[in-house]
Amino acid sequence: MRWGKLLRLKVVSLSIFTALTVLWWGHLALSFTSLRWLAQRQDLYIGTAVQFRPLQRQPMYRQVLAREFNMVTPENAMKFEVVHPERDRYDFTQADAIVQFASDRDLQVRGHTLVWHRQLPSWLTEGEFTPEELKAILRDHIYTVVGHFRDRVSAWDVVNEAFNDDGTLRDTIWLRGIGEEYLELAFRWAREADPTARLFYNNYGGEMAGKKADATYEFIQKLEDRGVPIDGVGLQMHVGLNNVPTAAAVADNMRRFDELGLEVQITEMDVQIQNGTGTESERLQAQAEIYGEMLRVCQVEPNCNTLVMWGFTDAHSWIPSFTGNDDAPLIFDESYRPKPAYYELLEVLSR
Ligand code: XIL
Repeated sequence: MRWGKLLRLKVVSLSIFTALTVLWWGHLALSFTSLRWLAQRQDLYIGTAVQFRPLQRQPMYRQVLAREFNMVTPENAMKFEVVHPERDRYDFTQADAIVQFASDRDLQVRGHTLVWHRQLPSWLTEGEFTPEELKAILRDHIYTVVGHFRDRVSAWDVVNEAFNDDGTLRDTIWLRGIGEEYLELAFRWAREADPTARLFYNNYGGEMAGKKADATYEFIQKLEDRGVPIDGVGLQMHVGLNNVPTAAAVADNMRRFDELGLEVQITEMDVQIQNGTGTESERLQAQAEIYGEMLRVCQVEPNCNTLVMWGFTDAHSWIPSFTGNDDAPLIFDESYRPKPAYYELLEVLSR
């Protein structure tokens, strides 16, 4: 009886020991592998949007960020209303903190964004300006912001979302006040302010051929013909389970920009699951496959070397407030646990 008990105790402790060893090795293997580590071995950039507050306050946020990514995009900190709150005052507090974090950990920075129709300060939207005044404001803004981060931002989204879905130019304060010329001027001023930064036009909904992507393509071709300095196109890639271009269509779109000598980056990827069908685990699996496919496209196409996600933890995604519904569009859950999408990206990077 006593021997039996002792034997049982031995078996139990042996299995606990084995389980712990397996867990420990698993943990060790995971900590030696990261998206960042695998990406940099193949000259790829895996990035994420970064928010100022959690970066300041949450050690876990900083830790996962620096471990998994080699590129960041400030999610709001470089937008007009944040950096240029009054006509004669700039405020780089938040953006500087993010750029400093990035430089301390050797992460590249994408600057986002110089010319957009949203997140503008009221002095600008409510002011009345002549075309010449508005041009001077935009020139000053671009020179100051790009100049401030000169040599520290590797790529700028110079112009964001300038086209409507039907391919016409969007009616914005810039188009109304300056005319179509604002696009060309913005790129020229950005180049003057930092000749080494790569300059991008960034858009959503133009991931594959269609009215919007075609208009963008033709417009950029025109800019290039006129010698306007533009280096690439950003495909935002805000998609969902029921709303996603095929990988082949995205690859075709990338190739035609390659023919113009342009780089393409995936700049704001997230994958909503709220409109998918199936159980949660099936939806997370479908989400994982979409992330994996898009990374694969970027890995294979010669003019793509960057995939940036619009955040990394579901705890800080813009999607729930944007859509008004719960969602889980990113690759780590709210407790920073890797989701199937994370493992899928690891797997694609290991090929
Ligand atoms: C979003 C941010 O994620 C939100 O925090 C903010 O309230 C609104 O803007 N396209 C873009 C991004 O280019 O700048 C937007 O970011 C998302 C859509």
